Amino acid sequence: MAEPRITKKLMSRRASPITSSFSKPESDAAPAAPPPPVKQPPRLFVSRAIPQPALDLLNNAMPTLRIDINTDERNLFGEELVQRAKGSTALISTLADNIDREVLQALSPALKVVATYAVGTNNIDLKAARELGIRVTNTPGVLTEATAEVAVALILACARRVVEGDRATRAGKFTGWAPLYMRGRTVFGSTVGIIGAGRIGGTVARTMRAGFGCRILYHTTTPHPELDTELHARQVSLDELLELSDFVSIHCPLTDETRHLIGNNALSRMKPTAFLINTARGPIVDEPALVQMLRKNRIAGAGFDVYEHEPNLSPGLADLDNVVLLPHIGSATVETRDRMGLICAQSVLDVLAGKEPQNRVV
Ligand code: DGY
Repeated sequence: MAEPRITKKLMSRRASPITSSFSKPESDAAPAAPPPPVKQPPRLFVSRAIPQPALDLLNNAMPTLRIDINTDERNLFGEELVQRAKGSTALISTLADNIDREVLQALSPALKVVATYAVGTNNIDLKAARELGIRVTNTPGVLTEATAEVAVALILACARRVVEGDRATRAGKFTGWAPLYMRGRTVFGSTVGIIGAGRIGGTVARTMRAGFGCRILYHTTTPHPELDTELHARQVSLDELLELSDFVSIHCPLTDETRHLIGNNALSRMKPTAFLINTARGPIVDEPALVQMLRKNRIAGAGFDVYEHEPNLSPGLADLDNVVLLPHIGSATVETRDRMGLICAQSVLDVLAGKEPQNRVV
């Protein structure tokens, strides 16, 4: 992928030397008033390269803004992030950055806003941000369809052994059509269980209902009567959802309550023919427990876009044939990533202009 152009550099102006011979001698001068505070141009640090439209918006709307971008092909951690972002008024960060209390404290009081290039904010210490008076914004709404598409893609890929079939064909293992070869599971008319029926979960539910005539069950903390009327969906307990679903698709946020929500207990309630799909956050699933269950064929398979210790995979996960593993690409379409960038840019501009940003979390 081409690096975005960094269109604006900090103009550094040298103080002009004192050349006037008409200056009054020191001793005659009136007592010097303290110099006015030098108003530094606002500074934005961007923790990974972002799409050009966001930079264009920033450059056009605030020409005095100094923008520094980490263009290395890697994420920055702890001290390194602090060193690079030190003195910044604004930070555009990603879901891979660990914005903990220490980082926020080290960047305070200069830092006024963290605009996270994501909808999830589990990687940011929101309490610390609140205490330090740092605004946090996110990018809800614009990645709903893109992420739902990946969840549906994983459902189909798992059920119809798409990736396994591709691997076998490339490896020359397709020796001819046979009635028992590569049989998967029918998606049409199956039961899909949605954990967390917010924007993305709701869109997956609608797609599976409209496209594949699926029966929809959902488990959520907020009631969604519209799903019941629109899709004949049914809100059920987590246990019931796990026991009845052919596809269990996770769409809840990562919180203290949802960390390892899907562990041994939950997995052993699932049907042996069922698949687990996760496009939300990795730590919602106890990954080593899942690997064990998959090894024993206690469930049929799993489709993952997110991982417990991202970007690392739990030992054994990549060796399994009955899993489809994607590199956290839920929101990765050109259109969506552009929109996410524009939202982050606008949030930064709003906060720097003293306005309330639209997608304020804190
Ligand atoms: C998010 O925004 O939280 C998504 O996981 C990004 O892909």
